[in-house]
Amino acid sequence: MTARVITVGNAMADVVALVPHLPERGGDVLARGGRIEVGGGGLRAVVASAGEGVEAVYAGRVGTGPLGDLVRAELARRSGVAVLPPVPDRDTGHVLVLVEPDGERTFATVPGAESAEPLLDRAGLRGGDHLHVHGYGLVAPGRAVAVVDAVAALPDDVVVLLDPGPFGADAPAEPLARLTARLDWWSGNAAEARAATGLGDPAAGARLLAATVRRGAVVRLGAGGCLLAVRGGDPVHLPAPVVTAVDTNGAGDVHVGVFLARLALGDDALDAAAAANRAAARHVALAR
Ligand SMILES: Nc1ncnc2c1ncn2[C@@H]1O[C@H](COP(=O)(O)OP(=O)(O)O)[C@@H](O)[C@H]1O
Ligand SMILES: [Mg+2]
Repeated sequence: MTARVITVGNAMADVVALVPHLPERGGDVLARGGRIEVGGGGLRAVVASAGEGVEAVYAGRVGTGPLGDLVRAELARRSGVAVLPPVPDRDTGHVLVLVEPDGERTFATVPGAESAEPLLDRAGLRGGDHLHVHGYGLVAPGRAVAVVDAVAALPDDVVVLLDPGPFGADAPAEPLARLTARLDWWSGNAAEARAATGLGDPAAGARLLAATVRRGAVVRLGAGGCLLAVRGGDPVHLPAPVVTAVDTNGAGDVHVGVFLARLALGDDALDAAAAANRAAARHVALAR
């Protein structure tokens, strides 16, 4: 059966400015460039999965309006599939992304139709599928409960990964705990691992996170690559290729999308994480 990666994460319009530094309060800053592109943790992850040769399905919501049209056009261009009906009365949201010269990105997120009811039961998930869940979609308590109920009802052999994203630790505690018990994989950056565990040491965080899910945890370390902890084992450090970072926006999403795709294609976790490091390094080095 075809390997599939399906996301219930978000798609949004990223409004990107390449700035010399963050503006001060009440100030302004002249950007050296910028663009509007389709982003969002869910969409970026499945686009990266599709690049590995798996079938990529976008099972998040898309709005009605100019930003929703952008998302649909991007999905069509990337031969991705959007399976849920459009949200009729609300456009897709957007994210202001400020990128500093070292490539670090800072966000302000304006929610839209991607935060509508998830309707995951209509996405047609089946055994062997690899499902991507993003923490942004768990912040609204109603949506968190709906996502977690749907994930809990999935066949046991659907592989489920949570990327908590910057808002993951703000998700309501009860559904988050229920989701965690059904997770196969957790993947987040070092700050997100600290927020989830209270542990400052990423290796200790990776070990603890791996022990709370069924298979393991990936802690992403920016230019440092990532840590892979398989449940019950010692965390392994996988260095990233050395590149000049231009823009790290979306690096974590690319990492997750490639990791899931490689697992869906039958790689073991170590090979999948190494492939994810290589793809994410290419992404940060790319002038967009
Ligand atoms: N400067 C860099 N050089 C090489 N690879 C990088 C660099 N920054 C990020 N990466 C790759 O992208 C992955 C994700 O980036 P990271 O910043 O850790 O996550 P997030 O985007 O969630 O903050 C890293 O694990 C690494 O593989
Ligand atoms: Mg980062």
